[in-house]
Amino acid sequence: MNTSENALDRVLVLEMVRVTEQAAIAAAALIGRGDEKAADAAAVEAMRKAFDTLYMDGTVVIGEGERDEAPMLYIGEKVGGAPGKGPKIDIALDPLEGTTITAKAGPNALAVLAAAEEGNLLNAPDVYMDKIAVGPGYPDDVIDLAKTPTQNVESVAAAKGVKPADIIVCVLDRPRHAEMIAELRAIGCGVVLIGDGDVAGVIAVTDEDTTIDMYMGQGGAPEGVLAAAALRCVGGQFNGRLLFRNDDERGRARKWGIEDLDKIYKLEELAKGDCIFAATGVTAGSLLDGVKRRRNGTMTTESVVMRASSGTVRWIKGEHKI
Ligand code: FBP
Repeated sequence: MNTSENALDRVLVLEMVRVTEQAAIAAAALIGRGDEKAADAAAVEAMRKAFDTLYMDGTVVIGEGERDEAPMLYIGEKVGGAPGKGPKIDIALDPLEGTTITAKAGPNALAVLAAAEEGNLLNAPDVYMDKIAVGPGYPDDVIDLAKTPTQNVESVAAAKGVKPADIIVCVLDRPRHAEMIAELRAIGCGVVLIGDGDVAGVIAVTDEDTTIDMYMGQGGAPEGVLAAAALRCVGGQFNGRLLFRNDDERGRARKWGIEDLDKIYKLEELAKGDCIFAATGVTAGSLLDGVKRRRNGTMTTESVVMRASSGTVRWIKGEHKI
């Protein structure tokens, strides 16, 4: 049980699920409709509205983009129903993680957010991040982004007491990963290729039922912070390094106070202190079932909400009258 008092105590942890539920239900109406933008916009609008019902003075630190790029849930936007009065909470969010997945009715699209006390989430710019993750139960520093994929697989295999060829690695299916995939296959690893959705991909390493041991590769930096918040709650290790394609991206990072552009961030540097992670499935996947419209006119949802300080993980099934 958590006995320490912090700002998150005054935010109803379970209420965070209402926010991801509303975003997921809104996006679900557009599953398989081939329109990424419409699905994302529906999720954003629903999440924005749902935040207003929470007693908090929230600030979006990872959101839909910068103020001039996003009409709602932009970085720096105030959210919550008690501005200036409620507890000060920083929010990282992705109302629809997996816009293409949703448009194509693929697996693992999520509505997702992380919340922490002010200043505790890395204000990651919307650039790529090189990521590596393993689940709980390994010795500290079993992974190290400064090492090669082969060295990391060997380290995890030795700690698990298996051969490198027994290790299963999840990787985003992108041309930029061709060399790494070839390297992993050359040492006999199983490579699980996912089309999109690396928040679910990273979290998959924490669940033995997925059989996935490690996550590796480059994806969005905001998604990296969200996945790190989840691992803070359920255990596991994560390293992330921001990747910059041009000076504009480097400039964005400096604007958010990031000085060392080559830094390798560990879990606690991405999500410090106490934090909450909440997600609702939009389409069915390895983490959560998707939104389903029932014949009796209700919609069902499946969500998870977890908290770092207590380590409590709650799986929540919702039945919603429309
Ligand atoms: P969106 O929901 O914004 O489309 O992100 C999906 C995603 O697959 C993320 O999970 C991942 O981090 C990122 O895109 C990878 O980016 P890219 O598609 O450019 O390789």
